[in-house]
Amino acid sequence: MAKAMKFHSPGSPLSSVGRYTPPAIFFHWVVALLIAIAYAAVITKGYLPRGSAPRALSMTIHEWAGIAVLVLAVPRLLWRLIAGAPAALPGQGWLVRMGSAAVHLLLYLFLFAQPVLGYLTLNAGGHVLIIPGLDIALPQFVGKDTELRRSIKEIHETLGTAFYWVIGLHALAALWHHYFRRDDTLRRML
Ligand code: HEM
Ligand code: HEM
Repeated sequence: MAKAMKFHSPGSPLSSVGRYTPPAIFFHWVVALLIAIAYAAVITKGYLPRGSAPRALSMTIHEWAGIAVLVLAVPRLLWRLIAGAPAALPGQGWLVRMGSAAVHLLLYLFLFAQPVLGYLTLNAGGHVLIIPGLDIALPQFVGKDTELRRSIKEIHETLGTAFYWVIGLHALAALWHHYFRRDDTLRRML
């Protein structure tokens, strides 16, 4: 454990000690990309004419990118529990360590909650997702229910808006560590 605490001065090569493991790095960036796609698709949808094929395609991209986030969240969390995370870098105050742990926990919760809420919104609207090419429908967990759909959709949208800010804060914090504190926080996730 003492080894994992070793500090690398900025600019020096970062050894595998104190770095996130390759699977953790893979999960982090693939999931970040999928979330960016989910957001971009649902924003694009808003600009397309109702009932048009491109609008439906945007929504399909949104839904499948979101489902992929959920599918990857399971092995990601398991891997996190098995492999853990590198020890906090020296020089990080109590507030920074608690703040980043809290934001990471929120982000993990979001990876599960947001796609589940999105999928339930779809179900409550009387729809399921069909796996393209295989004609297999994903299970329907709730039946058609307009009131329920409205409530879940509202939570899904509110959470979606709130996490623009949480994700933005998280990314800004990483850049702040890199460019202003000049420590290895970002480099150990690359
Ligand atoms: C990480 C994954 C996801 C994120 C970040 C996300 C984000 C969002 C956001 C921000 C909105 C609101 C858009 C607006 O205000 O117009 C939205 C709407 C919606 N999302 Fe998701 N979503 C995710 C996953 C899913 C999944 C997996 C599904 C379904 C399979 C889904 C289905 C929907 C539906 C049905 C709406 C309402 C669209 C409408 O009728 O206007 N989402 N999502
Ligand atoms: C949708 C986007 C993102 C999500 C959901 C996300 C989620 C997470 C989570 C859950 C962790 C904790 C990892 C763990 O302990 O297992 C983490 C760590 C990290 N993320 Fe992100 N992230 C996103 C985008 C970004 C972006 C855009 C950057 C860089 C600009 C970034 C930089 C980092 C860094 C440097 C760490 C390691 C922090 C540390 O060691 O204290 N992330 N991220």
